[in-house]
Amino acid sequence: MCGIIAYTGHRPAVPVIIQGLKSLEYRGYDSAGLCFCHLERLHLFRAAGKLHFLEQKLEGPQVLHATSGIGHTRWATHGLPNETNAHPHLDVHDNLALVHNGIIENYQQLKAMLIGTGCTFRSQTDTEVMVCLISHALNQHSSIRQALAWSLSQVQGSYAFALISRNHEGKVWAARKASPLILGAGTGENFVASDIPAFLPFTRNVVFLEDGELVEMDAGQWTVYDLSNLEPVSKQIQRIDWDVQSAQKGGYKHFMLKEIFEQPQVLTDCLAGRLDFKKYRVNLSELEGLPVPSRLHIMACGTSYHAGLWGRYVLESLARIPVNVEIASEFRYKELVDEPGALYLSISQSGETADTLAGQRMVRERGLPVLGLCNVVGSSVARESDRVLYTQAGPEISVASTKAMCSQLVMLYILALYWAQSRNVITPRDMMASLGTLESLAFTLDTQLPGMQKRAQEICPHYSKAQSFFFLGRGIYYPLALEGALKLKEISYIHAQGYPAGELKHGPIALIEPEVPTFALALDNFLLDKIGSNLMEVRARKGKIIALTNPGVQLEIDEKWEIPQLGDPLNSFLVLPALQLFAYEMAVYLGKDVDQPRNLAKSVTVE
Ligand code: G6P
Repeated sequence: MCGIIAYTGHRPAVPVIIQGLKSLEYRGYDSAGLCFCHLERLHLFRAAGKLHFLEQKLEGPQVLHATSGIGHTRWATHGLPNETNAHPHLDVHDNLALVHNGIIENYQQLKAMLIGTGCTFRSQTDTEVMVCLISHALNQHSSIRQALAWSLSQVQGSYAFALISRNHEGKVWAARKASPLILGAGTGENFVASDIPAFLPFTRNVVFLEDGELVEMDAGQWTVYDLSNLEPVSKQIQRIDWDVQSAQKGGYKHFMLKEIFEQPQVLTDCLAGRLDFKKYRVNLSELEGLPVPSRLHIMACGTSYHAGLWGRYVLESLARIPVNVEIASEFRYKELVDEPGALYLSISQSGETADTLAGQRMVRERGLPVLGLCNVVGSSVARESDRVLYTQAGPEISVASTKAMCSQLVMLYILALYWAQSRNVITPRDMMASLGTLESLAFTLDTQLPGMQKRAQEICPHYSKAQSFFFLGRGIYYPLALEGALKLKEISYIHAQGYPAGELKHGPIALIEPEVPTFALALDNFLLDKIGSNLMEVRARKGKIIALTNPGVQLEIDEKWEIPQLGDPLNSFLVLPALQLFAYEMAVYLGKDVDQPRNLAKSVTVE
């Protein structure tokens, strides 16, 4: 997840681009860069780190004169977050400059092909491959538009990009596929950007670009083309009436809500290039050559720990690998037992959590292998692991983690399928079924989220006076019950405890009374009857019950919250956002500070 902007118009372009990038920094801040054309030369400025490092580098008279250009703020996916890998990227002849948000899945094949034609590369990014491909295409096509159409037909993956050319000062080309891109149509000036706030101070007229569309624009006009035949497409201008402040949240009231609603995109991004429907396999090229472990030890904190607990169920049931999950602050002080063939998995959204890092350092000091599962590229957990799997959740701003956990779950599921296929313990039929459901997961979640939010809004007011909550689950839903309780505690400050439903009778049931409601994860699987009996025990003590369940399930409860049946474990990808939305709506109803709850920090870098 990166932020891109392009401007062409009557104003000095550099301040417009910098201002736009400031509002896009939430999409990543590993590096920033901009490029403009002046007197038939491309001028490139890039810097590692946050935007102010780029601002410090902007000097020279041409900086004041340019009236068009492109800018980028990076959230690294391919290549370290340094200046060489910062966007924009130029082709070998320094004729074209390109900024890109997304992932080019087949960049290695394209790179090999281009190297065969004599092309050389300066960075490790997939983006440089794209600009060189367009440059290569210009040898056979008479216009940039045609060269772009051909190049994009060769590219697999997701992109939103903007391109400028040394020979066409004032012109910008941009296109998208599965990454956001919006056109801002001004008077005597036009913009494209990853998000509306980037140009909102200058124009409120926007055109939402669709996948497979290409825009060509200069200061006075813009035209959208269908990439398949290069015919113009008629587009509607829409007027935005948000203010800049709320637009940074994409119109959502809080970052947490925005991030909950980003989960379908997170699933799409995490799965990009992973599912091979021709061979019915999953791809995890990052793990090539790494032996399948005889045992996996997972260490993590907070929400990442809950993801690890969930991972244990899928890794054990699909890959048949024994898994041990530890809270990192405990793990770091344990006596490690040497075990040949064991692998240690460190899970962390930020990659900077002190306890997780200390745990993995201890492991590596013993010469044992660590795999990192991490969201932030180049973070300490990533750098200090033998291998890394990156989740593709994009920057998470709200302190309460939501979309990061979704990305961790989907990557753990892919990991379980990958090791299951390596060990030959999954049938082709089961693999086909898993890939099929995974592929439609993002769409299913996207269609369900608005209804889920409405249901959470209906239920929360009735339970807002509760002093304490139980969250119950069994099997794979037990870790999600822990996460539901954590979310409620974190942002609504209502005490909550996640419990394995079968364990309630061994003590905690003493607390059940009408003011202590239970939120049950009662999905329709082989444990439904068991959890049904546990809920009867709660009901017999006059406890109120909310149950998240599937259609057709009969339960004696107070509030039924139905989600479609996706089966195990994929129901989890609907259960998780339902729990997040419940906590969110409760906190909003109680007037709490959702994005910055008291006493908490996003990244805990102290012990
Ligand atoms: C903090 C955050 C949690 C997060 C935990 C672990 O406590 O508030 O939301 O789950 O750290 O963070 P990590 O970055 O390692 O996943």
